[in-house]
Amino acid sequence: MAYLKLDHVKKIYNNKVEAVKSFDLEINQGEFVAFLGPSGCGKTTTLRMIAGLEKVTKGDIILEGKSMIDLEPKDRNISMIFQSYAVWPHMSVFDNVAYALKLQKKSKEEISEIVHHVAKIYDIEQYLDRYPSQLSGGQRQRVAVARAIAVKPKLFLMDEPLSNLDAKLRVSMRTDLKRIHQDLGTTSIFVTHDQSEALSLADRIVVMNHGVIEQIGTPKEIYHESETMFIAKFIGSPPANFFTVKVELKDDKLYLVHPSFKFEYKGALKETLVQKYVDQEVVLSVRPENFTVNKKGVLKTNAQIIEPQGSHVIINVDINGEDVKIVTDQFDIETGDEIKLGFTDRIAFYDPKTEHRIK
Ligand SMILES: Nc1ncnc2c1ncn2[C@@H]1O[C@H](COP(=O)(O)OP(=O)(O)OP(=O)(O)O)[C@@H](O)[C@H]1O
Ligand SMILES: [Mg+2]
Repeated sequence: MAYLKLDHVKKIYNNKVEAVKSFDLEINQGEFVAFLGPSGCGKTTTLRMIAGLEKVTKGDIILEGKSMIDLEPKDRNISMIFQSYAVWPHMSVFDNVAYALKLQKKSKEEISEIVHHVAKIYDIEQYLDRYPSQLSGGQRQRVAVARAIAVKPKLFLMDEPLSNLDAKLRVSMRTDLKRIHQDLGTTSIFVTHDQSEALSLADRIVVMNHGVIEQIGTPKEIYHESETMFIAKFIGSPPANFFTVKVELKDDKLYLVHPSFKFEYKGALKETLVQKYVDQEVVLSVRPENFTVNKKGVLKTNAQIIEPQGSHVIINVDINGEDVKIVTDQFDIETGDEIKLGFTDRIAFYDPKTEHRIK
């Protein structure tokens, strides 16, 4: 049985905005799940419905076998933190962390013990007497997380908790969050529109778009087996490159034909393409690292803009009027150089009508 189950959950706001269409998800105890999607796709709405801050229009939310939709937020045993620092400025760090424990009517000794314990985990022990205004952004966010975790919630919900931090701090906080999750094992949902955050943190990612789930999968599945063109473009930095190619069959050989290149395809999807797409167009999707450069290529082009990234280089080329980005570790290529591109067998295909992956 799933620990948390969202069963056809729907949210229509009273202004008729259908923010979440039919959300179906099962989460296991101890899992770290990320909701990922562009602005306005319904991530916060879904999280707020789980927390009880927003009423469910239709469907059910079930935690440990019991429906929660009629429970008050305070009776759900769920902690949530928000994008803006959810710490109270007029309380010391100690009182911030202790607040919910006091509401639970725990004894003074017990509260002190728990506060010191979580403060140690989150490395804020030396700041317990300070006020939030005397802390850095990262420290404040650690206080917010410590306060949420202190009550040992059944679910820990985080809505873009790192988005106020600078780039370097975000990366280090995300490692901290992952380490702490590994230690404590609190079932957690993390909302973000930053794909690299979702990929690096989550056991599983729920990709959302316009109030619907596009795909649920491990970071590996979401990246390497993106179910839709939307995901192939949304995930990855830089994202996948698309080429519309015609599928041609000649003497049992399958060719992919584009205005700028043509090559014989012998990969795993040959049979499917032969059966369903001969003489039709499909979308060839190539992640930037899945080009081969100057190794028996099928396409000649010129390196237009080169962006060194330290560990690798991004080369921008123009293919038939489209800007294409290639990731390579060939550091010697210079602007204007002629390069020969090929494809690894990691390429994917999408049906141009449904925009779904061809399998
Ligand atoms: N209280 C509300 N009343 C009416 N419509 C709302 C309300 N809150 C959100 N919406 C609408 O519902 C949709 C989903 O909003 P939501 O806040 O869930 O998006 P999100 O995925 O969290 O976006 P972001 O990444 O920008 O935070 C949006 O179209 C938004 O305008
Ligand atoms: Mg939001």
